[in-house]
Amino acid sequence: MNYQQFYKKSVDNPQEFWGEEARRIHWHAPYTRVLDDSNTPFNKWFVGGQTNLCYNAVDRWVESQGDSPALIAVSTETAADGLPVEKIYSFRELQAEVERAAAMMQALGVVRGDRVLVYMPMIAEATFAMLACARIGAVHSVVFGGFAANSLATRIDDAKPKLIVSADAGSRAGRPVPYKPLLDEAIRLATHKPEHVLLVNRQLVPMQLTPGRDVDYGTLREQHINARVPVTWLESNDISYILYTSGTTGKPKGVQRDVGGYAVALASSMQHVYCGKPGETFFATSDIGWVVGHSYIVYGPLIAGMATIMYEGLPIRPDAGIWWNLVEKYRVTRMFSAPTAIRVLRKQPPEFMRQYDLSSLQALYLAGEPLDETTSAWIAGELGVPVIDNYWQTETGWPILSVAKGIEDTPTRLGSPGLPMPGFKVKIVNELNGQACGANEKGVVAIEAPLPPGCMQTVFGDDKRFVDTYWSNFSNEQLYSTFDWGIRDSDGYYFILGRTDDVINVAGHRLGTREIEESISSHPNVSEVAVVGVEDKLKGQVAVAFVIPKDAAAMETTESRRLMEMEVMGVVDRQLGAVARPSRVHLVSLLPKTRSGKLLRRAVQAICEGRDAGDLTTIEDPASLAQIREAVAKG
Ligand code: PRX
Repeated sequence: MNYQQFYKKSVDNPQEFWGEEARRIHWHAPYTRVLDDSNTPFNKWFVGGQTNLCYNAVDRWVESQGDSPALIAVSTETAADGLPVEKIYSFRELQAEVERAAAMMQALGVVRGDRVLVYMPMIAEATFAMLACARIGAVHSVVFGGFAANSLATRIDDAKPKLIVSADAGSRAGRPVPYKPLLDEAIRLATHKPEHVLLVNRQLVPMQLTPGRDVDYGTLREQHINARVPVTWLESNDISYILYTSGTTGKPKGVQRDVGGYAVALASSMQHVYCGKPGETFFATSDIGWVVGHSYIVYGPLIAGMATIMYEGLPIRPDAGIWWNLVEKYRVTRMFSAPTAIRVLRKQPPEFMRQYDLSSLQALYLAGEPLDETTSAWIAGELGVPVIDNYWQTETGWPILSVAKGIEDTPTRLGSPGLPMPGFKVKIVNELNGQACGANEKGVVAIEAPLPPGCMQTVFGDDKRFVDTYWSNFSNEQLYSTFDWGIRDSDGYYFILGRTDDVINVAGHRLGTREIEESISSHPNVSEVAVVGVEDKLKGQVAVAFVIPKDAAAMETTESRRLMEMEVMGVVDRQLGAVARPSRVHLVSLLPKTRSGKLLRRAVQAICEGRDAGDLTTIEDPASLAQIREAVAKG
């Protein structure tokens, strides 16, 4: 079968296609229907089937390859010299740790359907916690460790977890980053209170346990050292997890995923896109707090019977060879990273990667942000393997566009993430009426219902928001909006041209400008604020803030300006986390708005990027633009 036939079958006959793909995973009880699309967009995959993500990722492999590596946890953060500290868990050992964690959760009152929030650094216990939830049918919600108290509090209030699993600290460039004080502050801010907090004590910083609420992971683990916790068989459409992601409003959306459809989609993509085989090693350099970490650090590789590397540390510490050292050492066959990381490495002397034997590596996959041609060509030249761009979203859970090298050796095209992956009926449509665009015509990337297995079921707790956000942008209610601009060339290759909404992408991290604005607004001397994403050579985009102070005295001297700018950055650091901190804060006395009061965000962005500000006939006061220009020119 070639790609065209493969893809055609997936969209023409989804029942048959996905019925065959479903054989890649273990079903405890068979499903009665592959797809129930009677209530679009709330489609159900593998209705009535019983399965379990943890079983497919762990137990299933214990018999055939119980002693082979499953989880390779590497940290270059915890040894003083920055050298890697490595621990390998075989499938059997992973199973034992997951059963312990599951027993611990049960001892703390967690039952099927309960939410468990995981706020963890990149340590093995984070994976144990996720898999333990999956094992007992609890719903995990992993929150990126780089997020701070307010971000965490919003998620606690939305997910209402019974339990939070966390640690004393993460670490960055060898310096501990305390988690516990942020977590305590988040719980104080949140209306919902978890019953318990389970804390891994890495002994990186001193930690105070709150009596009655906080429990030490190590101590409780000892009590459950021989625990056997049977798998809870779940219906395919039960909830596996919630993962919050940013959108147009200030309130993050809880992307909710199922069990069976997700397992099948991952197994299928591991075969056709990532081409991994049992016994090989997969290395995704993302973080478990993002969707790539869920799909391709934890679940995907393990479901495919591969070992997965979980890496805590920077790509350039102790030196820029560290990733390639791991590739050599663990004979990594497939690697997954983000363009920003490769741009960081490109600034380093190439000797660092050239000193390692990279002959095991067969392909490098890059996703999360646009892949520029220079970066792509450079790394392909250095590695001598195909570099495969893949485009997807937290919402879809696995690639929408890529090339299916497992099916056919389809050529890649520089600057393009490729062709639709199975089941994704991708269209480029007019932003206003949803009509299909012609070849090479810019429009919104949309996907026709039904979305394939593995995609989000709904927004957690808010079906209406799911429909209103994703399925109501065009008159055709069968069209899902990705909120990305794109074009398709005459050969069917797609090109992604940035977001249509207020989402920005900083170093592959998806952030909402509205969330940053809301945070900045909480500063007592901020009257108005606009945050825009501005093109950046290294990070793809950075956030830039324009602030109108209430008290104009803040604008008077260089010193008072600097102080105010630092304070604004400090607010974002404390509330959302350094990941969301604007790279620049400019003080102005006016923001460009339309006469009806709508902020001309695109005009601000254009000025920051040195482009023409576009049609400004509706602007209320042109002096506002002059101020933005002046502020940007000053740098
Ligand atoms: O704008 C697109 C961009 O990242 C967004 C999704 O981010 P997130 O939900 O964090 O999921 C990342 C999963 C890899 C998209 O809407 N994006 C993602 N991949 C690409 C991309 N933009 C261009 N090229 C890509 N390959």
